[in-house]
Order: sequence, then C-alpha cells, then structure tokens
Amino acid sequence: ADGIFGSILRTNVAYEQPTDQRAALANRVLFITGGAGTIGSAQTRALVHLGADACIIGRSVEKTEAAAKEIAKVRNGARVLGIGGVDVRNFESLKAAADRCAKELGAIDYVIAGAAGNFIAPISGLSPNAFKTVIDIDTIGTFNTIKATVPYLAQSAARNPNPNPSGLGTGTGGRFLSVSATFHYTGMPLQAHVSAAKAAIDSLMASLALEYGPLGLTANSLAPGAIEGTEGMERLASSLVTDAKDKGKGIPSGRWGTVRDIADATVYLFSDAGNYVNGTTLVVDGAGWRRQGGV
Ligand code: HXC
Repeated sequence: ADGIFGSILRTNVAYEQPTDQRAALANRVLFITGGAGTIGSAQTRALVHLGADACIIGRSVEKTEAAAKEIAKVRNGARVLGIGGVDVRNFESLKAAADRCAKELGAIDYVIAGAAGNFIAPISGLSPNAFKTVIDIDTIGTFNTIKATVPYLAQSAARNPNPNPSGLGTGTGGRFLSVSATFHYTGMPLQAHVSAAKAAIDSLMASLALEYGPLGLTANSLAPGAIEGTEGMERLASSLVTDAKDKGKGIPSGRWGTVRDIADATVYLFSDAGNYVNGTTLVVDGAGWRRQGGV
C-alpha cells in the first residue's frame, strides 16, 4: 500500500536475502537477455526479490540454467526459467524463447535487453567483421529483442492499465529497458564499435517510446558507468581505467558503481515510481562521464 519506496525500505537489507514477501512487483514477469551476466543477474535478483518471476536468456546453456537456479533462491516460490542456447543475433531462437517464457510464466511484463559484446580495439585494429559483430550483438540483438517481445509488452500494458487518475503514467506493465553506455556522449578511444552500437540503442528506445507510448509501454535506456566486478570493467580496466587502484576516486561521486546501484535504478524504472519516465536514458555513473576519462 505504501508503494515501491516503502517496499524497498522494508527490504533494504540485501536483494540476496531470501524472502517470502510478494511485494511491489508481484505477478510480473521479466524477460532478460544477458541475464546470467554480472549486471543482468543483479537486476534480475532485485526484481525477483520484489515479487517478479523471470526468464533468463543466454548463449550458454550451463551458465544460464545455473544463474536461473541461483536467482530463484532470493524469494520462496519464485519461478525463474533459464533458457540457454539462444543468441540474440538469431531472431528465430529469441522469438521461440519469448513465446516459451509467455507460455510457461504466463506473460512478459518487463524486458531487459542486456546482452552485449565487447573487446578493446582501436579503429585500426577493428576488421569490418569485428565492428559488425558488436553492432550485430548489441544493436541488432536489441532490435530482435524488441520484435520478439513487444506484442507481449503491449498485452501487459493493456492488462495493467494506467493507475494514475490524472491520466499520467502507464502502470507497472509493458516496460522495455536497454542496457546502454555513456561512451557515445563524448566518443571513446578503443570503443568506437561499442559507442556506435549503444548510440543506436538509445535511438531505438526513443522511437519505441514514441510508437508504443500510446499503447502504455515505456522504453528507456539505462547507462551504467564504471561498475566494479563486471565483465565490462575487467575487459576495459587495463586500457581505459587510468588507475585501477584508485577505486574510482576520480569519479565525481568518489567511487566505482556497484551492481546494486544498477539494480536499484532498474527497480525504479519498472516500479510505479517510474510510470512517467519514457523515451530517455537514466545514467547511473556517479557523474563519471561528465569528467571524461573519469572511469
Ligand atoms: C579485435 C576482435 C577482438 C579483439 C574479436 N574480434 N575479439 N578484433 N580485437 N579483441 C573480432 C574477430 O577477429 C572477428 O573478426 C570478429 O571480431 C568476431 O569474432 P568472433 O570471436 O568470431 O565472434 P563471436 O564468437 O561471435 O564473439 C563475440 C565477441 C565475444 C564480442 C567477440 O567477445 C563475445 O562473445 N562477447 C560476449 C560477452 C561480452 O563481450 N561481454 C562484455 C560485455 S561488456 P574477423 O575479421 O577476424 O572475422 C560491455 C560493456 C560496454 O558491453 C560498456 C562498459 C561501460
């Protein structure tokens, strides 16, 4: 009754702790690509902890099923399905996964397009196929995810109509979130491929918001900064992090981000608190990108 913030406050111990609570996001189903990754699994944990069920999509069968099993432990009764063997570059397999998720879990209310590919390379070291590979995974993969899930999101938005008597907001259903980055705001050496791919993703979210907003959907990007303990940081750290030992002291907020920071922002966007946030990017980076090279 006291909304998402009350719910978060009550559970603000750790999303990792098992709970019986079916809270703010009860009866909602998340479909997430890249859900077995460090950021994706933290986002999924938080949403499952707050009541959602989830379907995790990944390329590796083993890793995806193991992650699903682990995440299901955060709430008694949680249904978390791991569907491995799915590459976001292959639309048919993604579509089959979305159909299976909707069939087995009953709906798709939230989507996170989190699958991404990255490596460090200067433009001179990028073959045409290397550039294309990242565009294929990040940008085309996000488009494929939209195509596979948007009909379900539209149904969800219709089932969960606007709760706000003023006519604003969309209710907690029909939410699409892409995991973006901040590189394209400034350009980034050694990340030309990723910067271009993420710029296109932000643009896709804007168009999705414009076309599907009237049906009650929201579409946003979440742009993490330097998040400690992630694969991205591991890959980028040696080349882009000027002093890995400073733990992010050069960032205006004085530290690297945590996966919890990203999970909390995701909860915000998917909860009633985010009802009117549409067609935009939420940057969660401690103002790092404003100090270029602050990572
Ligand atoms: C230059 C490279 C390269 C490198 C691969 N390629 N690694 N070029 N430098 N380090 C080239 C290959 O030579 C090939 O081109 C082309 O890229 C495709 O490589 P494959 O290995 O065949 O591709 P594939 O098996 O599909 O693997 C995709 C991948 C891989 C992106 C290369 O790393 C992967 O699967 N990554 C998924 C996980 C991941 O990257 N997670 C990190 C996300 S972090 P040629 O011309 O030889 O055929 C993230 C954070 C971003 O996204 C922002 C942080 C803030």
